[in-house]
Amino acid sequence: MDKHIILLLRSFVAISILLTTMPCSCSQEDSRFSVCSQSLYSCGSLTNISYPFWGQNRPSFCGSRGFELQCLHNRTTSIQVGSQNFTALGINETDLTMRMVRSDIAYDVCAYNISNTSLSGSHFSFLPTVQNLTILYNCSSEVSTVVNNSFTCGNIGANRSAIYGNETLLRQLTNLESCGVRVQVPVLKGIQLVEAEGGGVDALNKALDEGFDVEYSADSSDLCTGCRDSGGLCGSAMNDTSHFSCHCRDGTHASSCSAKKSMSFLFLYFLLE
Ligand SMILES: *[C@@H]1O[C@H](CO)[C@@H](O)[C@H](O)[C@H]1NC(C)=O
Ligand SMILES: *[C@@H]1O[C@H](CO)[C@@H](O)[C@H](O)[C@H]1NC(C)=O
Ligand SMILES: *[C@@H]1O[C@H](CO)[C@@H](O)[C@H](O)[C@H]1NC(C)=O
Ligand SMILES: *[C@@H]1O[C@H](CO)[C@@H](O)[C@H](O)[C@H]1NC(C)=O
Ligand SMILES: *[C@@H]1O[C@H](CO)[C@@H](O)[C@H](O)[C@H]1NC(C)=O
Ligand SMILES: *[C@@H]1O[C@H](CO)[C@@H](O)[C@H](O)[C@H]1NC(C)=O
Ligand SMILES: *[C@@H]1O[C@H](CO)[C@@H](O)[C@H](O)[C@H]1NC(C)=O
Ligand SMILES: *[C@@H]1O[C@H](CO)[C@@H](O)[C@H](O)[C@H]1NC(C)=O
Ligand SMILES: *[C@@H]1O[C@H](CO)[C@@H](O)[C@H](O)[C@H]1NC(C)=O
Ligand SMILES: *[C@@H]1O[C@H](CO)[C@@H](O)[C@H](O)[C@H]1NC(C)=O
Ligand SMILES: *[C@@H]1O[C@H](CO)[C@@H](O)[C@H](O)[C@H]1NC(C)=O
Ligand SMILES: *[C@@H]1O[C@H](CO)[C@@H](O)[C@H](O)[C@H]1NC(C)=O
Repeated sequence: MDKHIILLLRSFVAISILLTTMPCSCSQEDSRFSVCSQSLYSCGSLTNISYPFWGQNRPSFCGSRGFELQCLHNRTTSIQVGSQNFTALGINETDLTMRMVRSDIAYDVCAYNISNTSLSGSHFSFLPTVQNLTILYNCSSEVSTVVNNSFTCGNIGANRSAIYGNETLLRQLTNLESCGVRVQVPVLKGIQLVEAEGGGVDALNKALDEGFDVEYSADSSDLCTGCRDSGGLCGSAMNDTSHFSCHCRDGTHASSCSAKKSMSFLFLYFLLE
């Protein structure tokens, strides 16, 4: 075959490879890498928080689904998990852990419609340092006279009380069937509960205010490792936090910064004549 035709064909294939592996509209894509590296999330005691979190100044394409942080009064960070709101007290990005507090129950244990704390179906799960505490509401007054760890809620009824404790403690009590509502809340293990504190609502509030620890994992943590190893920043598609994207210096890619790979592919191609 004609040498020129072969050369022409080869150039055509090479250009096609270049075109298909190069990111589109570079000037706009380019900035996502720098935006995500520069706009880290900071609010109150949380500083420079990165992927998978986003919110405040940090655009959604720098984060992932389920990790939106809200900065309240430039001081506290709120995150919604399922239908419940939590306050994020601390985030350890090395360990991928977070200390959080139920926003409602921590501030008002007598809040009318209290629900169990649930992380099921979310990107968060309890660490082994967490234990369940049970709170029983609307108990008859005979129950509460036995233990220190009881309190009353005006909105539930003048002569009704609430008690709390771990399952071991509650098993020792009688008349619990009189309590209408049972709620499970996570607290740190080894927290000084009740007795030592003289019980009452203060000891409960203190335990809840400490928060509890969870670990987190984004949908695409495996893809993210590949992206980071190739020099990219993990993130998501424009306007779609459920869709993983890898933001690279040369633009946004599906899973990793492939520029180097396609260049060496081209190089190989010419080398092999
Ligand atoms: C957060 O990042 C900024 C800019 O990179 C840096 O100046 C600052 O020292 C960092 N803060 C902390 C607490 O690491
Ligand atoms: C929030 O805090 C940051 C850093 O401390 C400060 O630069 C900014 O002006 C504050 N914003 C508001 C609305 O107070
Ligand atoms: C959680 O917080 C968001 C935003 O602040 C609010 O719109 C929502 O109603 C809150 N949800 C609950 C269950 O309190
Ligand atoms: C995060 O956890 C690691 C390992 O447990 C620890 O060494 C590090 O000090 C923690 N970082 C922060 C900011 O607490
Ligand atoms: C409390 O829960 C009940 C039933 O679950 C519901 O009908 C009611 O609207 C809730 N009230 C508030 C204030 O959320
Ligand atoms: C909380 O969960 C326990 C079982 O884990 C259940 O018995 C209780 O009814 C639940 N409470 C509420 C308010 O849903
Ligand atoms: C607490 O109990 C609930 C069920 O009511 C369960 O889903 C959750 O995993 C328990 N939490 C811990 C830390 O054991
Ligand atoms: C508390 O229990 C009493 C007696 O069983 C019942 O009449 C009342 O409706 C209950 N209150 C609430 C808020 O569940
Ligand atoms: C509460 O108890 C007191 C004294 O035991 C009694 O006089 C009063 O009627 C009770 N109130 C209610 C609402 O049951
Ligand atoms: C349950 O609570 C009691 C008293 O509050 C405490 O002595 C006990 O060690 C706790 N048990 C577990 C398994 O945490
Ligand atoms: C209740 O609290 C008091 C101190 O306020 C303490 O002396 C007492 O031992 C506690 N009762 C129980 C059953 O732990
Ligand atoms: C993202 O949403 C904004 C506002 O809804 C819209 O203007 C923009 O075109 C969207 N971008 C993409 C890439 O879909």
